[in-house]
Amino acid sequence: MFGPVTCIEDLRKRAEFRVPRMFYDYADSGSYTEGTYRDNTEAFSNIKIRQRVAVDIDNRSVKSTMIGRDISMPVALAPIGLCGMQHADGEIKAARAAEKFGIPFTLSTMSICSIEDVAQATKSPFWFQLYVMRDRGFTEDMIARAKAAGCDALVLTLDLQVLGQRHKDIRNGLSAPPKPTIKSILNLMTKPQWCMEMLGTKNRTFGNIVGHAPGVDNMTSLSEWTAKQFDPSLSWESIEWIKSKWDGKLILKGINDIEDAQIAAKTGADAITVSNHGGRQLDGAAASIDVLADIADAVGDKIEIHMDSGIRSGQDVFKALALGAKSTMIGRSFIYGLGAMGEQGVTKALEIIKDELDRTMGFAGETDINNVGRHNLLQGGKNY
Ligand code: FNR
Repeated sequence: MFGPVTCIEDLRKRAEFRVPRMFYDYADSGSYTEGTYRDNTEAFSNIKIRQRVAVDIDNRSVKSTMIGRDISMPVALAPIGLCGMQHADGEIKAARAAEKFGIPFTLSTMSICSIEDVAQATKSPFWFQLYVMRDRGFTEDMIARAKAAGCDALVLTLDLQVLGQRHKDIRNGLSAPPKPTIKSILNLMTKPQWCMEMLGTKNRTFGNIVGHAPGVDNMTSLSEWTAKQFDPSLSWESIEWIKSKWDGKLILKGINDIEDAQIAAKTGADAITVSNHGGRQLDGAAASIDVLADIADAVGDKIEIHMDSGIRSGQDVFKALALGAKSTMIGRSFIYGLGAMGEQGVTKALEIIKDELDRTMGFAGETDINNVGRHNLLQGGKNY
């Protein structure tokens, strides 16, 4: 039915086929009109690369570093809520694929497998993404759990003080596990493989929250709790509080504005992630790749810059690096793989991206990924 997997889009089609509609839509959607979601990928297509020839590109390397850690290519797995609904034990599978590939995996606060489950299933340290909750006692407890599990970086997400309205999730009645409505039961019946795999795991709801946050022990209390918990009063002062609880590496994720980047660079954090949350929060926000160059010019010499939102190929990674990112994160590119084929699918997504990155670098006449820069791009058809 499906031919060979040649690109991320092939994995997306397979994920759509295998994953129940409610969870597929959760992954493959943006907020409101989905304008920013679409812009994120389209903006990459508008960036053109200089083609160079007759350069000795025999020995090429895409090895790099991210906040001091050696990585096999400048890509990390972004934090994704409900990975364990794309595939049973999804967070464990993605973390294992990342570990074998030699790149960082980031576990979301809103994951299905818990911090402890992922730590037990892997050997290398992973990163933990934190949403600051109104319940600061619970937030502090999560930080302590991440520390105890050996996480070597905290990714603090700043762009979700309020939740972007995602129409598909509302229409589908998104919940984990799915509520037994006629619509969801009919849909689950068409996805028998997914259902069998889910029955084989204990991980079917938010593993970092249920049984850990006070008073959250069933679906009703969970949905009430999460709706109230994301802290809208989060401010730059809150970062001082986080730093008093976490003494490891700190990445500030969700910066899409020069002024915010300038403030972030003064916080003492180790890196920022230029991101609009993959078009899931402010619809109408600029595509992150479009603001990256200005942010890099403003703070690139003060703080390490990572970028995500819209990356679907190794060529996109190349463009992000050329515009000033030290490294990138990918979201959908790996969850399509996860939904399609579990751990093997994540590995496939990473192999595709690495191969495309290496080839693009070769076509651009570069041999070391760390030397890629604006000189590799065209602006309005002319050299920079
Ligand atoms: C996300 N993202 C996200 N970010 C975060 O900090 N915590 C989270 O729990 C989630 N959850 C989440 C779920 C899903 C389904 C998606 C697609 C995204 C945002 C994510 O980390 C990243 O910023 C984007 O995915 C990057 O855009 P692309 O690569 O998906 O286009």
